[in-house]
Amino acid sequence: MEAQRAFCAENKRLLENRYGRSPKALVRAFGCAQNMDDGEKIKGMLAEMGCTFTESVEEADIALYNTCAIRENAEQKVFGILGQATHQKELRRDMLIALCGCMAQQKEVSDKLRRSFPGVDLVFGPHALYKLPQLLHETLLHAVPGQRKRVYDTEDIDGVIAEGIPTLREDKVRAGLPIMYGCNNFCTYCVVPLVRGRERSRRPEDVLQEARSLVEAGYKEITLLGQNVNSYGKNGEEGMDFPELLEAVANIPGDFWVRFMTSHPRDCTRKLIDTMARNPKICNSLHLPVQSGNDRVLKAMNRHYTREQYLEIVRYAKEKIPGLHFTSDIIVGFPGETREEFEETLSLIREVGYQSLFTFIFSPRPGTRAAQMDDPVPAAEKSKWFQELLAVQKECGMKLYDRMTGQTVKILCEGYGKEKGILSDQPVPAGKALLMGRTEEGMVIDFFGDPRLIGQFVPVTVIKSANFALAGEIR
Ligand code: SAH
Ligand code: SF4
Ligand code: F3S
Repeated sequence: MEAQRAFCAENKRLLENRYGRSPKALVRAFGCAQNMDDGEKIKGMLAEMGCTFTESVEEADIALYNTCAIRENAEQKVFGILGQATHQKELRRDMLIALCGCMAQQKEVSDKLRRSFPGVDLVFGPHALYKLPQLLHETLLHAVPGQRKRVYDTEDIDGVIAEGIPTLREDKVRAGLPIMYGCNNFCTYCVVPLVRGRERSRRPEDVLQEARSLVEAGYKEITLLGQNVNSYGKNGEEGMDFPELLEAVANIPGDFWVRFMTSHPRDCTRKLIDTMARNPKICNSLHLPVQSGNDRVLKAMNRHYTREQYLEIVRYAKEKIPGLHFTSDIIVGFPGETREEFEETLSLIREVGYQSLFTFIFSPRPGTRAAQMDDPVPAAEKSKWFQELLAVQKECGMKLYDRMTGQTVKILCEGYGKEKGILSDQPVPAGKALLMGRTEEGMVIDFFGDPRLIGQFVPVTVIKSANFALAGEIR
């Protein structure tokens, strides 16, 4: 990182010369929480190079897209946005465009960029993130008319852990804290292991040091991040497993909540549940992606658990942690999934009673095993199943919301509420504002209050629930 800092200073000078003022950067991150966190690191590094930030591509001197490759439509969206940016570049030749993240790591994508997007100056994968200052430096040296050369760094290495990358956090209340990178699970449908490389965990002392500094800076919620957080420390080198690390974070003195994402059911141990049960700072919310409720499909997905094993850990957790809420990810229409198999997913959803679900129709990804499998069910049929799934989830999820009415709960006030929310039909009382927060289960709640409550824990009584939203009154 020392070397990178030197590049930052050098780039600052080059950028100021190029634009005659401090440059404006547009940074957009897509995909999972980790990729958002990487986006904040990109902003941190650009800020060190003297950049200020804009949301508008018309204003941007540098446009940087940190992309997601998880499904085809995520990629198509990015190509659309990239088209707009390259159009801007035709109007302003000194604009710089960079594409990074998971899409950049795919050969098909970097080839397409070379072929069809000559306006893109810099392309680098997730492994090269920490080298952004150096790569931008190279780009600037070659971004002179007549000598222009595009810079690519998408080498397929397993990734390093770079400590000390500056991070620019927009949110002053909640912070993400990566604890591990990559994935070794190779679910047959998933591109993540191909683009993010093998699992590697940060040292516990680095994680705890960062957690302490977040608490000192006043953050009220820390989310430990990883593609598979509960395989933290699995190779033994870290001297701590995930439940131990989670507890060590919760033991840091201060008034804050801890969450974590994502945990894989195969590594969700009783030890993890017991740790959650005895630590009030760890939120009563567990994201445990099941993907399917049928054993044949789970096996074909290479998930390493059965329906019964999944339900067993859910039952254990419900017993140990009364009031625990589950959320999950589901894939509809995995290659070869039959109607009967899909119905087992519906029955599992009913049995668990999820608060909310992230639901996806299977999307074949290049280089994955599932992309080679026979996929006889027509897209229209999959869409029908998908709608059915949403209806079942709506019915089950709303029960949990309705149950909240009348309860007084501690919530974390995160900011202002949306104008078109559950309280939009009511006038804002004098001296108050429409605020929003979240319960420890992760339910969004709107209420009227003093804006100085933003960033604080507040006791609120739930007065109404509708359409996966709650309204409350301060007690
Ligand atoms: N590491 C996490 C998930 C990361 S990806 C885990 O294993 O739980 C987030 C979700 O995207 C997955 O849980 C899955 O439901 C969905 N997903 C991944 N690849 C997909 C594909 N090819 N098609 C459709 N959905 C997919
Ligand atoms: Fe993808 Fe499976 Fe790894 Fe999750 S655990 S990132 S779904 S391969
Ligand atoms: Fe997408 Fe990469 Fe995350 S593929 S979900 S941004 S790890």
